[in-house]
Amino acid sequence: MKPRGVLLAGNWKMNHGPAAARGFFEALPWSGKEGAIMRIYPSFLALPTALDAVKTGGKKIEIGAQNFHAEKSGAFTGEVSGPMLQEIGIRQVLLGHSERRQYFAETPPLILKKTVSALQQGFEVLLCIGETLDERNGGQTLSVLTHQLESTLADPTCAAAFGKTLHLAYEPVWAIGTGVTATPTQAQETHASLRGLISRTLGQDIANAVRILYGGSVTPANFAELLACPDIDGGLVGGASLKPDSFGALWSLI
Ligand code: PGA
Repeated sequence: MKPRGVLLAGNWKMNHGPAAARGFFEALPWSGKEGAIMRIYPSFLALPTALDAVKTGGKKIEIGAQNFHAEKSGAFTGEVSGPMLQEIGIRQVLLGHSERRQYFAETPPLILKKTVSALQQGFEVLLCIGETLDERNGGQTLSVLTHQLESTLADPTCAAAFGKTLHLAYEPVWAIGTGVTATPTQAQETHASLRGLISRTLGQDIANAVRILYGGSVTPANFAELLACPDIDGGLVGGASLKPDSFGALWSLI
């Protein structure tokens, strides 16, 4: 078994309404695996159905939200708050996804605010970071990732949560939805550098406890060799999480 176990998380993005979500969970082959967690982040609208479907089906699958607003309530038209999510039984949130950064202008300070608020409200946070192709080609991968993480590492709430309720997903932007996956060597090298950064900032014990998931065109064809890398603790999967057979195939590789 891997030292930190394995987390297989599916990010459905803006796909699957309630009916499709129910169909997915009914069709998904699932069996318990020691040390492994399966989690899906459906759309807000499909959350209650997803929670009900996994409960009814007796499948121990965690259900998380793809986003939330840092304030607990108020005049924020179109937003969803932590207490609303908790009311229906959600305990996990995905934050900092590159699509939120790119299309919804989420900046490191905003993502930090959301992360701190989520942690203070008792959520478990999977925080996504990743560099663009230009940044990788320009040799800036580590400086970009460090910049994306530094305010989080410096924040006392986050620092205390790293490795407990705060974990990371490394998602190179050039690999998301493109069919181009980072090679196991590229991914392992980056994951090891991230763990080194956490170790230098917060200590080796915390660095050892933080799960770092890889995301970006993960499929049943490449997951096993990524997962074999010592610093890769699971996958954050977009496209291949939408169909029960491909997501089930990923689960069977753990
Ligand atoms: P992908 O998406 O697996 O479709 O590349 C990953 C993600 O955006 O989390």
